[in-house]
Amino acid sequence: LGSSSAASRVLDASLSEASDDGRCAGEHIPVRSSDGVRSTFVEIQEKRMQQADRSVLISCPKSIAKSNLLQFLSNHGQINNYFFYESYGMYMLVEFADRNGAQALCDAGCIPHTKGEFPMPFRSRVLAIRPRMFPNAASAQPTSMMPETDIHIINREPVSNKDIISRLNSLESTEQQLRTLVDMQQLTDADVRLRFMVCSLLQDMCATIFPGTLVRPFGSSINSFGHTGCDLDMLLDLDGVLFGNKRHVVKNNFELDYQVKMLSSERSVTQSVLSVMGECLDYFSPGCVGVQKILQARCPLVRFSHQPSSLQCDFTANNRIALKSTEMLYIYGQVDERVRQLVFAVRSWARSHGLTSSISGAWITNFALTTMVLFFLQKRSPAIVPTLEQLRKLADPEDVHIVEGHDCTIVSNLEKITSSQNTETLDQLLVEFFNFYGSFSFSKHSINIWKGSEQNKPESSPLYIVNPFEHHLNISKNVNVSQLERFVQLARNSVWQLQHQEEQSSPKTRPWGLTAVMSSQLQSNNTKGRGRMKSGETLSKIRSLLENSVLNKAGGNVRKMQGG
Ligand code: GTP
Ligand code: MG
Repeated sequence: LGSSSAASRVLDASLSEASDDGRCAGEHIPVRSSDGVRSTFVEIQEKRMQQADRSVLISCPKSIAKSNLLQFLSNHGQINNYFFYESYGMYMLVEFADRNGAQALCDAGCIPHTKGEFPMPFRSRVLAIRPRMFPNAASAQPTSMMPETDIHIINREPVSNKDIISRLNSLESTEQQLRTLVDMQQLTDADVRLRFMVCSLLQDMCATIFPGTLVRPFGSSINSFGHTGCDLDMLLDLDGVLFGNKRHVVKNNFELDYQVKMLSSERSVTQSVLSVMGECLDYFSPGCVGVQKILQARCPLVRFSHQPSSLQCDFTANNRIALKSTEMLYIYGQVDERVRQLVFAVRSWARSHGLTSSISGAWITNFALTTMVLFFLQKRSPAIVPTLEQLRKLADPEDVHIVEGHDCTIVSNLEKITSSQNTETLDQLLVEFFNFYGSFSFSKHSINIWKGSEQNKPESSPLYIVNPFEHHLNISKNVNVSQLERFVQLARNSVWQLQHQEEQSSPKTRPWGLTAVMSSQLQSNNTKGRGRMKSGETLSKIRSLLENSVLNKAGGNVRKMQGG
């Protein structure tokens, strides 16, 4: 490189559409192929995994002349894409045009030696650029023709609640607020690339013992409902090892097996594999800290922080149903744009009131909450999203997917799902969501998105949400009575808030719409000031809801059963 044309070739590769502060405005997942057909969930995942496979993560000094660094890197192969960001120092993620570029760069690296410290002889695609390797690197004087100011440093900090509230307050309608909330919180292309990169690094490590394994992300990193700062859920997919090569029946009918150790259950295998991988992460993998092996959990996992990406990671194995649930949520997110907007709003509302938490406990999980939003949208007239049973009926033969005897089949071709005739606005849907769950008969009924209708509860858990693919299980079994009571109470308060908003002249200075229902201060004032309500009709409606609280009856039943 070194010429201006070569320099601009590298520059073109930087993430486009970054705003002035380097934050990418939207989601850049390639949802359509070149012929205009919408890509399936699996196709998108494959593309992302390939991108990550030819990428490297590089730690570099803050003061480095970035354009010089890019020239240096492009000596090893053509660069497709790159971005700089800060996380425990300055890092850059570089995607080469092919795996050879990444490999050539790694081959040029050495294991460092420092006096008094002894290196682990482990090579990964996490590298460090030091001035010694690149004499002008620490210099602020770029020698390249590429203008240094054209190279952005991506801001990956989640937008603060204060900034969200102030931005949303300045808007004109609740509709605009919900749309803007998604824009401000959704994962950026840089976030998604980093998440796949961490999976790819883990995959390299696991493949040293189990060649043919894949490490895939699942959960909110890829279900289209993730916000910047959400955890990274990963699973070790051993199918390639277990079923990767077909048995060759040789002429004389001998069968050839690997001699392997046998354990008493698949769970024991998962625990053993995760235990070893946890040790490898802890001892060898650069930047993986705080490794905890939580192997006795219902779903055994290894939890750790990945410092180069600032991601909190949960690593599981053999969790194929979770991957299917992730695909299901993704598909629902694509069916109608109101789905994502409402889910983001409800998740933010719940988070702001402490109804959800990143620590596990008796509260509603984001997965359960999202399922509740989908159920509500199925119950609208006309329905905004189809039932899971309908999505099953649209599936092609190649979509059939049975996991441990459970039918997890769901249509993958998004073009086959017809759009809803429902024209309700986001303003209406937000109020109606709170109204729906403010008066839902939780004591009697379960929520079932397979059927799209409430069913009688098979047992007395306060909140019963039928597991989408394992119909005999309740995904909200952990939720206790008081958490459900808080949820219902806050939903009722939010209806009142949204229906009794004082007119404000522009620019609005007090919380309104979505920000009003997200504010715990206003919610508690509202509870205290209920006597001041002007509308007798609404007052009596809320009173009757409170008096006939089906929820209290549910709580009574549960306590009685526990006491007995
Ligand atoms: P965050 O709270 O933002 O992390 O949302 P999340 O959707 O990633 O949730 P979480 O990390 O708790 O779980 C990851 C994924 O596992 C979910 O998206 C689901 O696909 C799946 N999952 C979680 N809990 C359950 C459950 O109880 N049943 C089933 N079938 N899948 C679950
Ligand atoms: Mg998650």
